Amino acid sequence: PGVWAAALSTATYVLDDAGGLGRQFDGIGAVSGGGATSRLLVNYQEPYRSQILDYLFKPNFGASLHILKVEIGGDGQSTDGTEPSHMHYENDENYFRGYEWWLMKEAKKRNPKIKLIGLPWTFPAWIGRGENWPYDYPDVTAYYVISWILGAKQYHDLDIDYIGIWNERAFSSKYIKVLRQSLDRLGLRNVGIIAADGDWNVSKEMIVDPYLNDAVEVVGAHYPGTKTVPNALLTKKKLWSSEDYSTFNDEVGAGCWARILNQNYVNGNMTSTIAWNLVASYYEQLPFGRCGLMTAQEPWSGHYEVDAPIWITAHTTQFTQPGWSYLQVDGHLEGGGSFVALTDGLGNLTIIIETMTHNHSQCIRPPLPHFSVTPQRATFYLKGSFYMVETLQVWHSRLGFESGNSSLFEQLHPVKVWKGSFSLDLNVDEVYTLTTLKTGQKCGCPEPPPPQPFPSNYKDDFNIRNPPFSEAPNFADQTGVFEYFINASDPGDHVFTLRQVVVQQPITWASDADQTISLIGNFQWMNVTVTCDIYIEKQRDGGVFIAGRVDNGGIYVRRTKGVFFWVFADGTYRVTGDLAGEEILMKGLSGVRDNTWHTLTLNIQGTSASGLLNGYPLWENVTVSKPSNGWAAIGTRSFEFAQFDNFHVEAS
Ligand code: GAL
Ligand code: CA
Repeated sequence: PGVWAAALSTATYVLDDAGGLGRQFDGIGAVSGGGATSRLLVNYQEPYRSQILDYLFKPNFGASLHILKVEIGGDGQSTDGTEPSHMHYENDENYFRGYEWWLMKEAKKRNPKIKLIGLPWTFPAWIGRGENWPYDYPDVTAYYVISWILGAKQYHDLDIDYIGIWNERAFSSKYIKVLRQSLDRLGLRNVGIIAADGDWNVSKEMIVDPYLNDAVEVVGAHYPGTKTVPNALLTKKKLWSSEDYSTFNDEVGAGCWARILNQNYVNGNMTSTIAWNLVASYYEQLPFGRCGLMTAQEPWSGHYEVDAPIWITAHTTQFTQPGWSYLQVDGHLEGGGSFVALTDGLGNLTIIIETMTHNHSQCIRPPLPHFSVTPQRATFYLKGSFYMVETLQVWHSRLGFESGNSSLFEQLHPVKVWKGSFSLDLNVDEVYTLTTLKTGQKCGCPEPPPPQPFPSNYKDDFNIRNPPFSEAPNFADQTGVFEYFINASDPGDHVFTLRQVVVQQPITWASDADQTISLIGNFQWMNVTVTCDIYIEKQRDGGVFIAGRVDNGGIYVRRTKGVFFWVFADGTYRVTGDLAGEEILMKGLSGVRDNTWHTLTLNIQGTSASGLLNGYPLWENVTVSKPSNGWAAIGTRSFEFAQFDNFHVEAS
């Protein structure tokens, strides 16, 4: 052991508040949305849904997040689906769509101090008055965004703390200033503007435009690779990594998260880091599957997974709060890795140390330059008001990787501080929290139910008078928005339906399809029978489809393939191998009309597909080969109203 100890590099680090403190810490958070990342969460049964929410938001329990950032739904595709706007049309206002309102309330219930952020990815078309651009009418865009803030308060008693501009797209200085003025005029001075949720370039304009500089409270960059730029520092503003992580939530994901939580401050002076995404609650085969702090993608079974990033988060979140301050330290460990130290200014001290190695801490982006980390001894000297500290509580994680020898957020014996000093032997891929706080907790919660595939026989008649959410369970909209609908004048069979409601291509963030589509089921399904009552509302060129073996969605929705059975208001039908409708497998006359109900059935077995209309064969023996499996889906030919009822899918 003596030889081993000698081989360790040893180094000393001083923690002292006598010369003043560093930047104020603003909290660790996560994003729901951008897009539809919490889609499946809402349909979990109790007690599982509450357990998941507790792991995310409950103080001293799990991730105990300080910040929740949500998408302001804009009806467009924003990565893993669309989220509904509170204003689909110019004269339309509804603050009960989607699940972000609900999620914010659940977060607040658990932690009344949690900070809330809203950010648009897409906007409904009317904002742009025909252009795919939100800045031609800055007053209109500001009105739209501020309506969302006011609606949050009026209908849900939610105070929004920060508002963003346009996720990872161009910003407009003009718009930012108009937004600030409008917020102030409406008494929303406490709502801070984050700009511009992309690269650091907004800071370049801020330093030459004092009005812009005044308008912005936080410079927020995405995936900064733990580094800032000189212009950002010159703004003298708070600097945040306002979106980061986005990495598969295994141990490498946890390593990424541990490294950037510390190093965004150590290297980049960033005082908040926000993970995309909060919880992976979308079908796993959509883009960026499982890139959430934890996984809850099976509402039908109740199964969920508390993945390692949750416990990495706890190392910071459970032992410091927004309003604490970082100590002025260099923060780099001599043997590689980093540490941060924070205080509440009242004598409490929290030190977080990470020794993640390069290959075990790569994030999805940007590329990570090489560095090395070796086992090392670190000796800390506590000075100033921390000289009096006698013991520190110790929380420890070790990411074991190949060795399988992992431990997550375990409490170790407290460390005795002797004359203001203590030493630690650090191995690689570890996280330590040393703290004067005794409040940490790792719950021993009940195991969730085992995983199960999506039910192979699934029906929905949409007959629900007061649905808790605007969208039917498990349908994952990928272009357009499908909402519960009530036909007040229907004679009886179709009073309660599901309706596609987006009638113009939104101001896009990704490449939405020209058709609308909502997915459901199991991506592994091969042989399926999909049946659905359909109602075309658009005359002449209106049309709807039902589909099986649908192989894509999210930002790739335009290239979706599958087996699509379409009927059109002009009395024709088609079978196509793609959503775009270019690969025509069969076509003919059907006699279908708009504004009446019809029943479509699509049957796919092996390499053969057939279709029924109102229970009678319409086409058969159409050869289908690729894709060999995929979800079921419904949708429309264009951005048009249409209704669906009595959806039924049976897979074998
Ligand atoms: C970000 C984007 C998110 C999500 C993520 C996936 O750039 O803001 O919405 O798409 O990438 O890595
Ligand atoms: Ca119905």
